[in-house]
Amino acid sequence: MHARSGFFSAIIAVIVLAWVPTAAPAGQAPGQATPAAETYKLRCAVCHGPDGNAQVPEMNFADGQWKHGSSVKEIAKVISEGVPGTAMVAFKSQLSEKEILDLARYVRAFDKTKGNAKTRPRKPGS
Ligand code: HEC
Repeated sequence: MHARSGFFSAIIAVIVLAWVPTAAPAGQAPGQATPAAETYKLRCAVCHGPDGNAQVPEMNFADGQWKHGSSVKEIAKVISEGVPGTAMVAFKSQLSEKEILDLARYVRAFDKTKGNAKTRPRKPGS
């Protein structure tokens, strides 16, 4: 019995060792969630552009306009649930909650304008 279970553990160890390096993108420690930048390049850049600078305003992350809200929470909701009737599909079945939140922060950061809720400049003297 012992020899048998040892044999199976060895097989499993080999499978895990063989699988982990190919599952993780190059340069990334095994077992970590895929970094937002990688996920964005793979899954989002095709529509939203490498810098979030898509030509279509609803798809542009850099113009200071957030159709569905500019908070990380609102952005995460769009990524998670998609926008019905548009090419923006729901990603909640493909990405973990943490990956979605990281992505939301990542795309939020493409917006360097000051005209949005989160980074509204304070009035001098107030
Ligand atoms: C097939 C093309 C496509 C892909 C791929 C795609 N999107 Fe979208 N996305 C859209 C479209 C189209 C809209 C605009 C929806 C609308 O009109 O409200 C949108 C809207 C959004 C918005 C809302 C922007 C705003 O102004 O409120 C966010 C955030 C977003 N996408 C994030 C992502 C992320 C993150 C990914 C990758 C995980 C992704 N999208 C992948 C097409 C895409």
